[in-house]
Amino acid sequence: MDFFELAADRRSVRIYEPGSQISDAELKNIFDTVILSPSSFNVQHWRFIVVRDQARKTELRSIAYGQAQVEEAAAVVLVCGRLNAYEDAPRIYADADEATRDKYLPMIEGVYKDQPALQREEAVRSGSLAAMSLMYAAKALGWDSGPMIGFDAAKVGAMLKLDGNTVPVMMVVLGKAAAGKQVQRAYRRPVSEVVSLEWSGGDTLA
Ligand SMILES: Cc1cc2nc3c(=O)[nH]c(=O)nc-3n(C[C@H](O)[C@H](O)[C@H](O)COP(=O)(O)O)c2cc1C
Repeated sequence: MDFFELAADRRSVRIYEPGSQISDAELKNIFDTVILSPSSFNVQHWRFIVVRDQARKTELRSIAYGQAQVEEAAAVVLVCGRLNAYEDAPRIYADADEATRDKYLPMIEGVYKDQPALQREEAVRSGSLAAMSLMYAAKALGWDSGPMIGFDAAKVGAMLKLDGNTVPVMMVVLGKAAAGKQVQRAYRRPVSEVVSLEWSGGDTLA
């Protein structure tokens, strides 16, 4: 399946075949690609918590307002973002040349230190890009997915023992779509409505 077929075929799946299991090796394949996602200054804010245990998925379902896919999918991935990811910059830039380190390390600290709103924005931004990579990589390897924000973030944080520097970005459920039970692709705004050339009121694409 080439990329365009894959993108056209990816859907937010809510009804899964019961009993499918995703192995460590399959998850590793998926996440080997996910970690190639871009992030601001390459600080890689993302963290992922994978829940496969059935009782824990059932508990997560109750935190996700009863949404059945959380219990019925093979895995629930909580995509998180680290607010203080920028503090790892010295490690991330350890192999860079001295000129690069001298330029970027002070810049990164200057941008993020004591900037809680920006720290959160970047954590969510990077986590969201990683979540999209996760859904495409999963699809390429034969797994369907569904992004979700319909859950109680404080309760999920407590259940999964997130530390104070880690915020939930979204859940992504992974599983095998139940055959014949998927709904039509929902309405999409046309390109002509969402793309402007040169400025916000400019021409669009035909
Ligand atoms: C950030 C985000 C949160 C979402 N939360 C939920 C959710 O809690 N439950 C759900 O069933 N779908 C959820 N969705 C899926 C959207 O409803 C879905 O992407 C949209 O209807 C378009 O459908 P498609 O992805 O199949 O094209 C979410 C999607 C995104 C991007």
